[in-house]
Amino acid sequence: MRILSGIQPSGVLHIGNYFGMMRAAIALQAEGEAFYFVADYHALTSLQNPKAMRENSHRVALDFLACGLDPDRAALFRQSDVPQVTELAWILGTVTPFSRLELAHSYKDKVARGVAASAGLFTYPVLMAADILIYDSDVVPVGKDQKQHIEITRDIATRINETFGEVFKLPEPRIQSSTETVPGLDGQKMSKSYGNTIDIFGEEKETRKRIMSIVTDSTPVEAPKNPDTSSIVQLYSLFATEAEVAAMKKRFVAGGTGYGDFKKQLFSALWDYFAPMRARRAEILAEPSYVDEVLARGAERANAIADRVMSRVRAAVGL
Ligand code: TYM
Repeated sequence: MRILSGIQPSGVLHIGNYFGMMRAAIALQAEGEAFYFVADYHALTSLQNPKAMRENSHRVALDFLACGLDPDRAALFRQSDVPQVTELAWILGTVTPFSRLELAHSYKDKVARGVAASAGLFTYPVLMAADILIYDSDVVPVGKDQKQHIEITRDIATRINETFGEVFKLPEPRIQSSTETVPGLDGQKMSKSYGNTIDIFGEEKETRKRIMSIVTDSTPVEAPKNPDTSSIVQLYSLFATEAEVAAMKKRFVAGGTGYGDFKKQLFSALWDYFAPMRARRAEILAEPSYVDEVLARGAERANAIADRVMSRVRAAVGL
C-alpha cells in the first residue's frame, strides 16, 4: 500500500493540521510505503515571499519530524524537488472540465477571503491530482476540507483512463472521523488564513494567551453551560481520555465553574500532550543539517517513482 499526503508551508503548523492529517499520516507510515511532502508549489498561490517560503518549508519539515515522522520509513520531501509533477498537472488539465473546477469549495472560499483569483489558484486541484497520481498512491490521509479535492483527483484519473487506457489507479481518501474539523479560537475551522490557530510548537506564554482567548458566550460563572456546543470541550477531547472529557462535561452542566478555568485545563492537557514532541524537536535542532539531509533522501525516493510513472503517462498519451 502506498500512502501519500502533503501540507502547505503557508504558515506554521497548527493542531488542526496535526489531528486532521499528521497524526494519521504518522500512524500509517508503519503500514505501507509512505510519501509526505511540503506543498511549496501550492503555497505559492498565497505566499509570495521567497524568504518566508524557504523558512516555512524547512520549519514544516522540522515540525513533522518532531511529531514522529520516521524518515527511515516515510519519504519526506519538498513538492518542488519533483518538478515532473507540474508536467503531469498540465497533462491532467487537458482532460479536466473547467466546470468541475468552478465547483471547488476551496477556490470559492479562498477568493471570498481575499486571496487573488489567479489561474494557479483555480487549477490548484489539478496540481493536487498530479501530486497524488504521480506516486500511484492508494491512500491519502487528509482533513475533511480536502475531501472534494480527492474526489476531483478520482474524476480526473477516470477521464485519463477512459481516454488513454488504464494509466492510473484510483486513490482513496482517509479522513479522520473523530476529529473531522478541528475548530479554531473563534469556533470556525482552524486555519492559518483565519488567524485562529493554536500552533503545535507555539511559545508557552503565547499558547496560553491564545487558549484563554477562545471565544465563548457570556453565561455567568454560576450558571450551567452547554458542553455540546463548546469548542473548549471539542478541543479538550483531542488531548484527554474519555473519562476526563466526561468529567469536564459534568462540570459544565453543574455550573459554578467559569470558562477561564476550563481553558486553563485545556492548556495544561495540550501542553503535556506535545511535551515529548517538543523534546524531539530540540534534539533535531541540535543537528543543523538533519532536516536538509532527510529532505534530500526523500526527494531521491520520490523522483525514482515519479520518473517511472511519467514514462508510463507520456507513452500512454503519445508524447
Ligand atoms: P493544508 O496545508 O491546508 O493542510 C494540511 C492538512 O491539514 C488538514 N487540516 C485540518 N484538518 C482538520 N481540521 C482543521 N482545522 C484542519 N486544517 C487543516 C488538511 O485537511 C490537510 O490534510 N491542498 C492541501 C495540501 C496538498 C495535498 C496534496 C494533500 C497539496 N497536494 C496531495 C494531499 C495530497 C492543503 O492545502 O492542506
